[in-house]
Order: sequence, then C-alpha cells, then structure tokens
Amino acid sequence: MIDSNAGVCIISRMQSNLPCIMKTAAAAVSLLIMNACTSISGPSTGSVKQAGFGNTKAGESTELYTLKNANGVVAKVTTYGATLVELHVPDKDGNLADVINGFDSVAGYEGDGNQYFGCTTGRVCNRIAKGKFTLDGTEYTLATNNDPNHLHGGGDKALSKQVWKAAPVDGQAAVVFTLTSPDGEEGYPGNLSMKVTYTLTDADELRIDYQATTDKATPVNLTNHAYFNLGGAGTGTVLDHELTLNADHFTPVDDTLIPTGKIDPVAGTELDFRTAHVIGDRIPDKGATKTEDAESATLGYDHNFVLNGKAGTHRLAARLKDPDSGRVMEIYTDQVAIQFYSGNFLMNQEGKAGKAYPFRGALCLETQHNPDSVNHPDFPSTILRPGQTYRTTTVHRFSAE
Ligand code: BGC
Repeated sequence: MIDSNAGVCIISRMQSNLPCIMKTAAAAVSLLIMNACTSISGPSTGSVKQAGFGNTKAGESTELYTLKNANGVVAKVTTYGATLVELHVPDKDGNLADVINGFDSVAGYEGDGNQYFGCTTGRVCNRIAKGKFTLDGTEYTLATNNDPNHLHGGGDKALSKQVWKAAPVDGQAAVVFTLTSPDGEEGYPGNLSMKVTYTLTDADELRIDYQATTDKATPVNLTNHAYFNLGGAGTGTVLDHELTLNADHFTPVDDTLIPTGKIDPVAGTELDFRTAHVIGDRIPDKGATKTEDAESATLGYDHNFVLNGKAGTHRLAARLKDPDSGRVMEIYTDQVAIQFYSGNFLMNQEGKAGKAYPFRGALCLETQHNPDSVNHPDFPSTILRPGQTYRTTTVHRFSAE
C-alpha cells in the first residue's frame, strides 16, 4: 500500500536555527524522529503511463513513467536512478516547456554528459571529507570519487546509477520507486531499504517523498539533483533568473568544498538571497564561458544554505523566477538545508531533443542535511538506526506571473 501522504517527517537532532545549533548541540538529546505528518500539497487525480526507456550497458531494462495532472502538467520519471527526466510547466501565457536537463534514453544517463541530472542522490548526497567517517567506533571508507572527497554516494553503485523497481499509484499521477542497497555497498553499513515517491498534484506541484529503514546504523541524506532552467532546458543560461532563499546562514567550506564547521550569516555577502536577487548580478566572473574557468567556488554558487525555521516542519526554502517566461518555482521542504549550485560544471553537453546545456545553463536547488554532517557532531544528525524510519518531503510548486 502506498503511503502517498508521507508527510513532513525527517531525522533531526535539533532545529535548524543556527545560533541554536551551536548552543544546544551539547544539550541535544537522543535522535528525534518526528512523526507528526500533515498534508503539505494538493490532491493528485491525474494519470500514469509506462514506456520503455532502453537497456543499460549491463543489459538491464529501464522504464519511463509519464505523470500527467488535471491541468496537463507532465513529469516523466525513470527507474534508472529514480530520476526525474522531464518536467513540463506553463509560462504566463499557458505555454508548456520542459524546465529540466536530461537525456532521451538511459544511454544518455550512462554517458559522460550526465552530471547527476534529475537523479535520486545518495546514500549520502553532497560531500563526505576524504570518504571517511567513524560511527559507533568503526571507521568506514567510501569511494573518493570527487578527489579527495566522496560525492553523491560514490561510484557505480551510487543510488543514481542503479535500476530501481517502480509501481504506479492507483488513481493518482504518482509512482513509487523502491531499492534495497545491501550492507557494505559503496562502503556504507547496513541493508538500507528505500522508497522514493514522485507525485504530481493538481495544484501543479511535484512532490517527492523519501523513506528509508536500515538494519545497522548508517548515514542517510537523500535528495533530488534536478537542474532547472525555467525558460526551458537548453535555452541559454540562468543568470537572469531571480532567486530568493529562506536562509540567514550558510556553511563556509574549504578549498575542496568541505564545511569548515562554522555556520556564518549571509548578511553582507553575495550569498544573501533573503530578498530576490538576479543570479548573475553577484557572480564575480559572470562572463566566463569555459568550464575550466569555474574551478573556484567563488566563480559561481555551490553553497549550502541553512534554512530558517524548524527542521522537520514544512516551510518555504526557495523561490525561483524566470522574468521572461514568468515561470515561478517555489520549493517547500522539511529539510535542514539547501545546496544552491549554479551549474558551474555544465559543459555544453547534448541532452534531450539535441539541445545543449551550456555553462550555467541550469541550476540545482537540492534540499538536504548539511554536507559532511557525519563528520560534524554539531550539525543535525544524518544517522539512521534500526527501528527508525527516515522520512523527508520536498514540494516544487509551479506558477506563472
Ligand atoms: C555539487 C557540485 C557538483 C555537482 C555535480 C552539486 O550538488 O554541489 O559541487 O559539482 O553537484 O553535478
């Protein structure tokens, strides 16, 4: 039976109110699992259709599910990486455009051009310093696939590279993906059973519910890695998009994008998006066109913003607007933080329908726990233990003005 209203629950040791984190870390009691789920999105009455999406190099077949809501909004999701492939939403004149990067078949997702487009990322998204962490006295070693760090769950068995099982939800525009990652896979402890549900509601919302259980303590931090361009994927850059983030603080990082452990105010920095800002206005080298020029984090946004309000309760995290088309995306989440990545490593690769995805041609807004939390005891915990259920929900709400 599908738990299509899996609500606003999240693993969290404490609130994401930053000054409080530092002050109350010592006093933090044992892991709190919040179970007070409430409805945080509209009803879904649309349809689901299934088609083939091609075979992987290893010969596994993959499927593509098309979700359509009552207004004609369409999302397509594939079993490969439980990935969001297409998302067609209306502009101010009602014209639909596909607003995310992706490929026409699984071959593209297995190719060099795929930079985690639209996938479910984990077991732990973002970075773990030097691919190491110690849990309950045991040191674990993970792949260092983003030298010198672990990124987005590791190598060939990262969740984004596996074929998930899928089941449509009766009477809704929704699909449930399931996968069990065995003990030791990619170096992580515990058999981890996961469920990721995509639901398209009649309020033009794409809701993603994540759920996981384990038989051994293990870190879990799941997110979706969609790249958005609200003007339409492959139609130029996102430098003209206006972004608002509900975050007073961010986690400063070292040269390898690992948090130093500090939690600093955004006030007075180019990271202050508490009121709407045009993305290109404060990127130092906004004229740079070569991927190689973007090596430094200061050349683009690739930062973790700690969300205001209480983690575990649903609240607005981000608002993105494309002034030309009028499309607006609001992101609501129960998560601790959001990673804003301005597509600094996009390299003009060819995607769906022959369209190219240029440097800064799309951006990611990934709801998650703080990066490298497993090595920062003062950050809200990402550890899931046997008997606990990991739950988190993110809603992308689309409109136009
Ligand atoms: C990270 C970037 C990384 C990108 C890979 C983002 O989530 O923040 O540093 O390059 O994923 O696609």
